[in-house]
Amino acid sequence: MIDPLITMRVVHFASTVMVAGATLFVCFIAEPAFQAVGEPPWRVVRPFRGRLFGLLSASLVLAVVSGAGWLLLLAAKIGNQSLSEAITEGTAWVLLTQTRFGLDWQLRLLLAVLLAGSLLLERRTPSRWLDLFAALAGSIFIAALAWAGHGAATSGIAGDVHLGADIFHLIAAGAWLGGLIPFVLLVRLLRHSDEPGWATIACAVVSRFSNLGIIAVGTLLVSGTINAWFLVGGPVNWTGTGYGRLLQLKIALFVGMICLAAVNRQYLMPHLSADISGYDPERRTRTARKMERNAMLEVTLGLAVVVVVAMLGITQPATEAHVHVH
Ligand code: HEM
Repeated sequence: MIDPLITMRVVHFASTVMVAGATLFVCFIAEPAFQAVGEPPWRVVRPFRGRLFGLLSASLVLAVVSGAGWLLLLAAKIGNQSLSEAITEGTAWVLLTQTRFGLDWQLRLLLAVLLAGSLLLERRTPSRWLDLFAALAGSIFIAALAWAGHGAATSGIAGDVHLGADIFHLIAAGAWLGGLIPFVLLVRLLRHSDEPGWATIACAVVSRFSNLGIIAVGTLLVSGTINAWFLVGGPVNWTGTGYGRLLQLKIALFVGMICLAAVNRQYLMPHLSADISGYDPERRTRTARKMERNAMLEVTLGLAVVVVVAMLGITQPATEAHVHVH
């Protein structure tokens, strides 16, 4: 049977990545692309904002519920108790109120409440300031996970470097992976709209998101290498430990995602921008549909990465494992 803590971590990482990614996407990709065309295409903007509000609200609720589940399952594991005993005998309360993990969870709950408030306000009176606030709160919400992971276990200056790398790693993961579904949602709405300039807006969205993707991939590679440096150690640990093999699988999935993103950027994006002046609207639509399909394949691989991450975080780091050299 799969460890319920792994399942809860998968749900929590996935929903937290969604919250961070969607708030960053609205603030740095969608709204600037809408503003860039002078009169925003309201037949696209309104349904986009509506669906994103639904997606963000559901993700925020899922993140809070799975966060509570993570805490309870961890308390039961630490106390070697059943879930109900962990509650009735106060282990969960002690974990929440007297540990760094608990303090981190309290801070993240406060951020979730502030985020919910800003989303409700944004719903009534959209404003760039609220977009910025939500993007900042969403980034801190995911970055604060670093205090609950292996990144917080290293001491001294090395510990600061490890924790810093993990914080950047988490924000980059949120920006890229969490931005993919809003990206598909927006390009699909544009493609289905009969807005005369839909392809121009789609091009602006694609190039902005692709630039953000490049920054995120670079950050994931550098911060991931630093993480691996602290948690894997020597080459024999990559093959000789469960942790090392899990991380290899993660990197293979990551390479798959980069290949899909590269097809969108290097091959389909030039096609879409070339098609704008063309007189074949069908071709524009086909190109946009291929981009959406590739992005959804990236989401699928990204979800597999999140499953591996959920396992990595509760697997003994390779640096601590004893490797049998045959
Ligand atoms: C799509 C790409 C990636 C995503 C979405 C991703 C996501 C994550 C997340 C959410 C964490 C958990 C951090 C925590 O609990 O503190 C993490 C940890 C980690 N990541 Fe990545 N990552 C990606 C790529 C990479 C790459 C390319 C590397 C290596 C070069 C890497 C190496 C690591 C390591 C070593 C950890 C620490 C795991 C642990 O807690 O023991 N990641 N990653």
